[in-house]
Amino acid sequence: MAGRRLPTERAAALLAVVLAALAVVPSVQADENTHVYADKEPVVLWLNKIGPYHNPQETYTYYSLPFCVPEGNFHTRKKYVGIGEVLEGNDLVQSAMTMNFGINVPRRELCSQTLTPEQAETFKYAISQHYWYQLFIDDLPVWGMVGEIAASKEELEELEKDTSHEHAVMPSHIFTHKALTIGYNGNQIIEVNLSSKERRKVEPNVKLVFSYSVEWVPVEKTFAERFNRYLDYSFFEHQIHWFSIFNAFMMVVFLCGLVSLILMRTLKNDLARYATDKEFDGFDRDFGDDAGWKQIHGDVFRRPPHLILYAACFGTGMQMTALVLCVILMAIAGSLYVDPGALISATLVSYAATSVVSGYASAVLYQQYHAPKKGPRWIACMLTTAFLLPTVSLLVVLMLNAVSIYHGTQVLIPLGALVYIVLVWAVVALPLNVLGTVMGRNWGVRTPFPCRVNALPRQIPEQPWFTRHLVIIPVAGWLPYGAIFIEMYFILTSFWAFKLYYVFGFLFVVYLILIIVTGSVTVVATYFMLNHEDYNWQWCTFYASFSTAFYVWCYSLYFYEFKTNMTGSLQLTYYLSYMTTFCFALGLMTASIGTAAATLFVKRIYHDIHVD
Ligand SMILES: *[C@@H]1O[C@H](CO)[C@@H](O)[C@H](O)[C@H]1NC(C)=O
Repeated sequence: MAGRRLPTERAAALLAVVLAALAVVPSVQADENTHVYADKEPVVLWLNKIGPYHNPQETYTYYSLPFCVPEGNFHTRKKYVGIGEVLEGNDLVQSAMTMNFGINVPRRELCSQTLTPEQAETFKYAISQHYWYQLFIDDLPVWGMVGEIAASKEELEELEKDTSHEHAVMPSHIFTHKALTIGYNGNQIIEVNLSSKERRKVEPNVKLVFSYSVEWVPVEKTFAERFNRYLDYSFFEHQIHWFSIFNAFMMVVFLCGLVSLILMRTLKNDLARYATDKEFDGFDRDFGDDAGWKQIHGDVFRRPPHLILYAACFGTGMQMTALVLCVILMAIAGSLYVDPGALISATLVSYAATSVVSGYASAVLYQQYHAPKKGPRWIACMLTTAFLLPTVSLLVVLMLNAVSIYHGTQVLIPLGALVYIVLVWAVVALPLNVLGTVMGRNWGVRTPFPCRVNALPRQIPEQPWFTRHLVIIPVAGWLPYGAIFIEMYFILTSFWAFKLYYVFGFLFVVYLILIIVTGSVTVVATYFMLNHEDYNWQWCTFYASFSTAFYVWCYSLYFYEFKTNMTGSLQLTYYLSYMTTFCFALGLMTASIGTAAATLFVKRIYHDIHVD
């Protein structure tokens, strides 16, 4: 089943996009952009992808199934869509089902064909895999099934009579008539219903006549409400959702209490000492009696191994944190879900814009471990930060494109779009990264670490079981995971099971909760480690907060197995690659939050210890 895009055509279109610096190229039909139609104005019906219902990433172009092609070469007219829609996998060609605003079309034939044995086999296979297709009218999606496996009463009786087969094979039927009902209000299109009619049995030498009809019905609903029917209120605003948020909120209260308790305990003596300092001139420098964290002041600020990688991961994670915030806020402000591809475009724009954050954050962390001198290898640090996530993503995209080409499905990102993205990255994201690095390196570090690092590292005492890294890391990740996993269920369901995610308010709250819980848990973990005189806290807290993403990844495996009906190696490859990349980015995000919290905490508690 071949049916790939024309790469050169698309590349040319997308290069035009670059040059014009426009997100959307004007489409054939100007009124699709305004959503206002004059009386009897032509309305274009676009054909989008087709594919098995249970495998959302396995999509083909509409005419990759052996449908007869109506006269008029409609299918060669493509709609040039913005980059977001391209990345969503939309590939729209005009359909021959022409119509005019407000004018009913009685049953009109499109084309007819006599099925060859191969065509019949292809259709039978597609119908057995629940192939469905998507149409767009005025940016409103409609879905239809290619056919169904069913039998009428007479056919069933015949099947029962026929004893030559041990297992009766249910016949496949294809729908040959598309009946569209379009609801309009004034001069705007409000809703579209599609019902598939005229079932024909799929067999060789059967003649199929494809047809369509359009009926226009005035409706009361307003234009603003037209997307409401795609939103699954009872699913997204289920009690469970509210309950999980409440639960997570209680966890936040508990953890914040714990952290304040720790801070008070560690800082209390210092506060007391300040009080006495005023009376006695001297400063009590003898920490001999103080067990725990104060003993290791000469080691806690020792540079962690692989500092450049550590800083690069931190910078990228901070960028993810900022990126998610930007996208959520844009989605809340702009109801982005109504516009195909808008969410992905917003993500791309935010990614480019937040590159300044990654440069800044990584430069600051790197510089902090060298202050007051300048860090010597800051360029290596900057480049590692800039290339870390893009390289991983590019490898995944190329791998998935290769897999798609091998299977003959639509590729994940067509070549033209890929070139476009790389160009935007090089022209916008990379310079912003450099800018951030320069700012962070020169002005980001105001105070060096409060304690000098001893020349010789101290021996770390034997640890009790609960401060071993192998215990701290998984335990610390579990709590943030507990706070977000219900939301993960909603996100995964909307991504993999065709539900429009629109509850960005919930997502925002969960995002804040995730930050607070991750930060608090990491502080607690750091405190335990330092109190047991283990000063290798940097990577340990990094992994500890990263491990949340590992749990999400495991959950996604469970989700694949028990909550979806995906099949086939192509879909599995897509699923695993998407989820692994997603969890990698999520992990960097939580790890950077944890690292920031731990670093601030350590800096704060050692702040008042001055050792010559
Ligand atoms: C579309 O279908 C829904 C649900 O069956 C129905 O409520 C609505 O009135 C239909 N709209 C039109 C324009 O036919």
